[in-house]
Amino acid sequence: MKVVPAEKVFRDPAARRGLPAWTYNNAELTQLEMEEVFLRNWLFVAHVSDLPRAGDYKCFDFANERAVVVRDQQKQIRAFHNVCRHRASRVVADDKGHCGNSFICPFHGWSYNLDGSLKNIPKASSFPDIDKSQFGLQPLDCDVWQGMIFIRFGGEGPSIAEQFADAAAEIGLYRIEEMEPLDDPYQYKFNLDWKAVLDIDNEGYHVPIGHPELFDLVGASYTDQPLAGGLTRACGSFRERKLKLERNRDYVEALPDKSYLPESHQHLWIYWGMFPGFVLTLFPDQIEIYQIYPTGYQKSVMAGVTYALPDKRASMQRARALNRDINMDVGDEDINLIRWAAEGMRSSAFDGVLLSDLELGVAAFQNRLRELLPVASLDEVPEEGSLKDTNERMLKMGKVTAVG
Ligand code: FES
Ligand SMILES: [Fe+2]
Repeated sequence: MKVVPAEKVFRDPAARRGLPAWTYNNAELTQLEMEEVFLRNWLFVAHVSDLPRAGDYKCFDFANERAVVVRDQQKQIRAFHNVCRHRASRVVADDKGHCGNSFICPFHGWSYNLDGSLKNIPKASSFPDIDKSQFGLQPLDCDVWQGMIFIRFGGEGPSIAEQFADAAAEIGLYRIEEMEPLDDPYQYKFNLDWKAVLDIDNEGYHVPIGHPELFDLVGASYTDQPLAGGLTRACGSFRERKLKLERNRDYVEALPDKSYLPESHQHLWIYWGMFPGFVLTLFPDQIEIYQIYPTGYQKSVMAGVTYALPDKRASMQRARALNRDINMDVGDEDINLIRWAAEGMRSSAFDGVLLSDLELGVAAFQNRLRELLPVASLDEVPEEGSLKDTNERMLKMGKVTAVG
């Protein structure tokens, strides 16, 4: 595992100053981020336990795109554009469910096999000769890795396994593919730019002050280590820590002695982030998967689910409940911090940020964004209507500000 050092992340001194303020308040940039970043990178859609049987499906909509993932009769997971080949309706009406052995479009009833091929057209004779093989659902890139299902609407590049190569051994310890959901999925909606939400997630510098209880539990080691390829890891341990707070002590005491994890990981809280907005947190008692993404100008979402191995032991149930309480409080604290910082960035007094070596994750994330969208490195906002062209011009010129 190769951590990118601070000298490299901050090779361009401008990286210390963060992204210019306008980049957090610009509808054209949000549009470009959705098109060029999110629609061209892997997005988490579901866990394998969401689709246990053939015919189980789950949808994911992003920007103008609509995806459906389904388990087919051979137990393989596939992904398609959720767009009927007749007149573009969704082929499943619900966000999640079971469609039997075919998708039946709710508009006029065209049906599709679970491998996407066109199965049947009602009143087929009313159409001129149709080559059915040309009218299957359009497939999407789909990658299932360690029980997590990802899709990609466009672009190309490394598989999820390749992107997560540095994390594979550690994440593999948790047997995520055998897990089940612990709670209902949650979704926080923000009237803020997605980067404002993500910035706080990319650094542990705020933990001692912003999250006193978390700090009591995991201490100062919870700092972010950016790795090559858009991965970030942070890790804190509660072993041999003198915990001041009762809820933390109760949590550690409640964790059963017998764990499926090796000793090295029984006392760790670990965070893995992957550009642009995917996060996997690993605890000794459960895991959490969440994703932060834009849904429009000044609109973003943080959507997540917790998963765990089946374990009925009372002590484990208690540990899980306490973990959830601690993390709920951390989440509430973050929501305020995110809002206060984002509001301040709209103020006339705002003069840019200043990033420390303890905020390497933020800088590495921003470097990666600037590589994809060099326009985001301009101090002044481009003239209205010209942002996309300016970005293309800068990409052609190879005007990339920093790496890391
Ligand atoms: S739009 Fe799907 S059957 Fe007509
Ligand atoms: Fe936080």
